[in-house]
Amino acid sequence: MNKILIIYAHEHHKSSQINRAMVDAVRDMDGITFVDLYREYPDFKIDSDAEIKRIFDHDIIIFQFPMHWFSTPALLKEYQDKVILAEHAYAPEGKAFTGKYFFCALSTGAPKDKFGKDARNNYTVDEFLRPVEQTMRAAGMEILPHYVIYGARFAENEDRLDPHVKGWRKLLKQVRNNDFGF
Ligand SMILES: Cc1cc2nc3c(=O)[nH]c(=O)nc-3n(C[C@H](O)[C@H](O)[C@H](O)COP(=O)(O)O)c2cc1C
Repeated sequence: MNKILIIYAHEHHKSSQINRAMVDAVRDMDGITFVDLYREYPDFKIDSDAEIKRIFDHDIIIFQFPMHWFSTPALLKEYQDKVILAEHAYAPEGKAFTGKYFFCALSTGAPKDKFGKDARNNYTVDEFLRPVEQTMRAAGMEILPHYVIYGARFAENEDRLDPHVKGWRKLLKQVRNNDFGF
C-alpha cells in the first residue's frame, strides 16, 4: 500500500467549500498523512527538516490548493522554496526524491472553457502548473495527472460538490493501491 502525503494550502479553510469537503472526505483514510500548511505555519516559518523527512517517509506527494493567480497560494510557494532544496535536485547528490510520485489536486474559480489557447485565460491548467511540475521532477519525482476541479463556486448548489468529493476519495484509494490508470 502506498503512503500518501497531502500538503494542503488554503488560507481560508473555514470558508472553503470544495477543498474543505475534499479534506473532510479523506483525512482519516488509512495510509494518508494530511498537512494543513496554513494551520501549521501561520507565520510562514516552515520546519524544512521535518517536511523533508515527511517526503522521504511517503510514496506519493500531493499538493492540494485553490488556484491563486494561476499559481499556488503563497505558503505553498514558500514550501517549495524551503523544502525542495537545490541539493535535492542537482548533481552529485541530486534527484533525492527518485521513486516518489507527485501530482496536484486543485480547484479553480473559472470554468474549464476559460482555460486554453484562445480562451480568456490563454493557457491550460496543466500549462500553468509547469513550474511546480518541473520543481518536483528536478528533485526526482515522477509526475501523475493532476486532479482539477473547475468552476469551484458551489454556493448556489451544494449537490454539485458530491461527485467531485466522491471522485477524490476514489482516486486516492486507487493511487494508494498502486493503480495509476486514471
Ligand atoms: C487571491 C485569489 C486568487 C485567485 N486566482 C484565481 C485564478 O487565477 N484562477 C481561478 O480560476 N480562480 C482563482 N481564484 C478563485 C479560487 O481558486 C476559488 O475561489 C477556489 O478554488 C474555490 O475553492 P474553495 O471552495 O475550496 O475555497 C482566486 C482566489 C483568490 C482568493
